[in-house]
Amino acid sequence: MRMYDLIEKKRNGGELSAEEIRWMLSGYVSGKIPDYQMSAMLMAIFFRGMTDEETSVMTDAVARSGDMMDLSPIAGVKVDKHSTGGVGDKTTLVIAPIAAACGVKVAKVSGRGLGHTGGTVDKLESIPGFRADLNREEFFAAVNKTGLAVIGQSGNMTPADKKLYALRDVTATVDSIPLIAVSIMGKKLAAGNDAILLDVTCGSGAFMKKTEDAVELAKKMVQIGQRAGKRMAALITDMDTPLGHCIGNILEVKESIEVLKDGGPEDLREACLALSSNMLYLADLGTLEECRAMAQEAIRSGAALQRLADMVEAQGGDSSYVLDTGKFSEAPYCEEVKAQKDGFITHMDTESCGIASVMLGAGRETVDSAIDPAAGIILQKKTGDAVKQGETIAKLYASDQKLFATAAERYQKAIVIGEEKPAERPLVLARVEKGAVEMF
Ligand code: URA
Repeated sequence: MRMYDLIEKKRNGGELSAEEIRWMLSGYVSGKIPDYQMSAMLMAIFFRGMTDEETSVMTDAVARSGDMMDLSPIAGVKVDKHSTGGVGDKTTLVIAPIAAACGVKVAKVSGRGLGHTGGTVDKLESIPGFRADLNREEFFAAVNKTGLAVIGQSGNMTPADKKLYALRDVTATVDSIPLIAVSIMGKKLAAGNDAILLDVTCGSGAFMKKTEDAVELAKKMVQIGQRAGKRMAALITDMDTPLGHCIGNILEVKESIEVLKDGGPEDLREACLALSSNMLYLADLGTLEECRAMAQEAIRSGAALQRLADMVEAQGGDSSYVLDTGKFSEAPYCEEVKAQKDGFITHMDTESCGIASVMLGAGRETVDSAIDPAAGIILQKKTGDAVKQGETIAKLYASDQKLFATAAERYQKAIVIGEEKPAERPLVLARVEKGAVEMF
């Protein structure tokens, strides 16, 4: 087999066989196929797309390119949730404890923040002592004991995705729906769960800017998972506005705990109820309505909050911070961003809001940057809110006052104030299951 022939075949719109895809991926991971040939292939895929069969085979090859997690030492139904990323997206901290409190096992491998989006592992590591680097035995023992655990990705999982993603990043081939589906589902299949709920975010803070693209990505990923024998569903959720009122690690942990204490902002509560009830549904615990009632009860009774405290304790963290969030340290400096005129916030460029938070130290510009857990933004006003000139629309927090000037400017530019109140967008835009798409 020659890589040249496969590139030519794909460039001309042909379909690669399973054997060709497996040969290509293993050759790339072992270094026999150079980056320049794989770059040409990625660009050919970008323009020609991939058939369902090609996408499934490539996902399977990515999943098997490194260690596969065998979750069989964990008793019960294991349900995963994956978000395609967003700003202020802290739902895992709320829904994993809800699902565990309702009897589902959540053995979750999560990522760190990169670029404008945050990562669950960074948020959890802002709790003193919390360890996301449990070995497999510790991970299984923690899930068996408390019903949930969240760890970071180990060095040996899906090396093909690591190499391919780095190459896509520098060859303008990230935003290809089949390649995103392969990348995400490759990691999900390697993580070994029985069922997977996908949260496909959509809007100015997400990879997918348009609802129809988000639906297409969701359909592809649901189909890949089903072909691999997983129970699958996807929600398309709004990321045209940051989720909740907080961006930044400690701020987001505190806001998640507010929701688990039966408070918190309405949009975040609703997102968490929609996602957790779908996780329970995938675990076969009842209809969606019954599952929603179970999730609500897990919050109301305090059972979900207790699960979060148990998880933190089992992973070496100080659970007293969960029960008393006043113990978290606060950033020493705060700067207020003011509305420049009267009107309504008609749009928030959510990616820019995320970048402003990164500029304050809450995220990383590169994989090795250090983050400041206390840095971030509290949004006082969001899309649809009325504002008066000079009124505070956001509070920025940082450990270095010099960071405020550029971050405040970036945030200010992200906010559009107009005369008319904009139409409300539903938080859950669509749901995909078994080939059917329900639009809301
Ligand atoms: N997230 C991933 O893991 N991979 C992609 O390609 C895009 C988003």
